[in-house]
Amino acid sequence: MSHTNGFSKNADLYRTSRAHSELEDLEQSLEHLPAVTGLEVLDVATGTGHTAFFFARKQAHVFGVDINEEMLRVAQEESDSKSLSVRFLKCPVEDLVFDDEKFDLVTCRLAAHHFPSPLNFLSEAHRVLRKGGHLLLIDNVVPDGDTEAAEWINSYETRRDETHEKCLSPQDWKSALGEAGLTLVSSTAFPKTLQYDPWMERMSKEAGEKDALWEELMHSPENVRNYLKPKVDSKGQRSLRLNRQILVAQKS
Ligand SMILES: C[S@@+](CC[C@H](N)C(=O)[O-])C[C@H]1O[C@@H](n2cnc3c(N)ncnc32)[C@H](O)[C@@H]1O
Repeated sequence: MSHTNGFSKNADLYRTSRAHSELEDLEQSLEHLPAVTGLEVLDVATGTGHTAFFFARKQAHVFGVDINEEMLRVAQEESDSKSLSVRFLKCPVEDLVFDDEKFDLVTCRLAAHHFPSPLNFLSEAHRVLRKGGHLLLIDNVVPDGDTEAAEWINSYETRRDETHEKCLSPQDWKSALGEAGLTLVSSTAFPKTLQYDPWMERMSKEAGEKDALWEELMHSPENVRNYLKPKVDSKGQRSLRLNRQILVAQKS
């Protein structure tokens, strides 16, 4: 399935998804970034625009790009209803339509695990950043130094979501940033507990499929269960922990 189809079905769910609309990770990232007021910001794989709106509210000048027209339609609707001026464009992260050194800050949140080539994305981010500019990358990660858990988690994610390519580990991201010529400024773990059912429903999973995937998770290897912490609370609510990493890098 192409990325375009995969996200189109459920674009509206991303507008309200708690995983995407709760912005503590972005608030936390500000500790590692220069003041953003007045900056030229590019939010890549913007989805329904949560990250783009966050920086627009901080008085930055923001472009948001994505390859999925339905996600961009929802983002534009939100932008109009909130009277926030973000310019949205259809464009792949691997081939950005912008001139070299146009932006002070490039952001990419909860999207890089969909990219077939993280390096192509990083090299484009590097190209459009001005010297001294920053990249803010937030994504779910797999554990450092545990190939078995990393493979299990990526295979599970691919069965949940056909558009999933690969979650990298924090160490993989550090290496890739270096390869793209970006200097790591900070790398911060941001574990986030998610309700299991909405997480599956965003991917149109029916009750039977949800239960089967839950059973798989509950019977996963111990190192995976320690990392993802699947739990059922006293009201029968199922949850798991996804491990986001907040990385800030700079172009010298
Ligand atoms: C989960 S959403 C992004 C969430 C959003 N960044 C936020 O903070 O709420 C992932 C988005 O990545 C987009 N995407 C995936 N691959 C892409 C690519 N190669 N170029 C541009 N956008 C891409 C999808 O279309 C989708 O809208």
